[in-house]
Amino acid sequence: MQVKESVALITGGASGLGFGAASRFVARGGSVVVADINEARGAEAVAELGEQARFVACDVSNADDVAAAVQGASEAMGRIDILVNAAGVAPAQRVISRDGDLFDLELFKFTVGVNLIGMFDVIRNVAGVMAANDPGQDGERGVIVNVASIAAFEGQIGQAAYSASKGGVVGMTLPIARDLAGIGVRCNTIAPGVMDTPLLAGAPQELLDSLAKLHVFPQRLGNAEDFAHLAQALIENPLINGEVVRLDAAARMPPK
Ligand SMILES: NC(=O)c1ccc[n+]([C@@H]2O[C@H](COP(=O)([O-])OP(=O)(O)OC[C@H]3O[C@@H](n4cnc5c(N)ncnc54)[C@H](O)[C@@H]3O)[C@@H](O)[C@H]2O)c1
Repeated sequence: MQVKESVALITGGASGLGFGAASRFVARGGSVVVADINEARGAEAVAELGEQARFVACDVSNADDVAAAVQGASEAMGRIDILVNAAGVAPAQRVISRDGDLFDLELFKFTVGVNLIGMFDVIRNVAGVMAANDPGQDGERGVIVNVASIAAFEGQIGQAAYSASKGGVVGMTLPIARDLAGIGVRCNTIAPGVMDTPLLAGAPQELLDSLAKLHVFPQRLGNAEDFAHLAQALIENPLINGEVVRLDAAARMPPK
């Protein structure tokens, strides 16, 4: 599957890694539908991306939103060839705080609801649309790229919910690839290290510098271009399937 002349649905495409993928795909002759909960930023994003981009408002944790967004995207563009699942939230809380407060169970459910269940809901809806695509090389009808995190493997203090959600994304990658083999759809996951996106906006420079040092080489924060480059590689290499790829310059996260 080539990005050029393909239609990509990108959740979380209004900002950060998702927007980076959208920019790269459009620059290479693809079309994108940005699906994001942030309507203001979504409108700005498609204005910046140009004619090859559309926006659809969507909360991935709301099943009605997801069904409508996927249907709307496929009707507007005629098909969906690529899905990039970049929508995500990253709240942090300890299981028990220093004051003895227990982790807020609603926050745990919210995090898993967006990052894992919401992502799965988008995948199943888009797979239903991809199944109707004409088969290309090797009988391929579509490609899915999910965004997990290295917190799936080395979650830090406060990341129980986030790591659970991203661990779920890692865990479902292979069985989804196996399930969708019958319709010619591949599914891979990128597990980024620390990426310089609006998620980190407002963090003090000292913290950013210390986070960058976790990356062994090159010793800098990752960025949306690094992500988009790998996403394109996973989309365009027909033999990569059911894989989770760390994008972290050999980082291994310490407890804090
Ligand atoms: N930035 C990092 O260091 C880093 C590291 C590892 C993994 N990630 C993951 O990368 C993904 C993208 O993060 P980012 O750094 O680009 O952050 P970001 O905040 O810049 O972008 C996330 C986007 O997701 C959207 N979003 C949030 N909740 C949503 C919902 N319920 N429905 C639809 N859209 C929703 C936001 O509006 C935003 O546009 C996330 O899944 C995040 O967990 C980020």
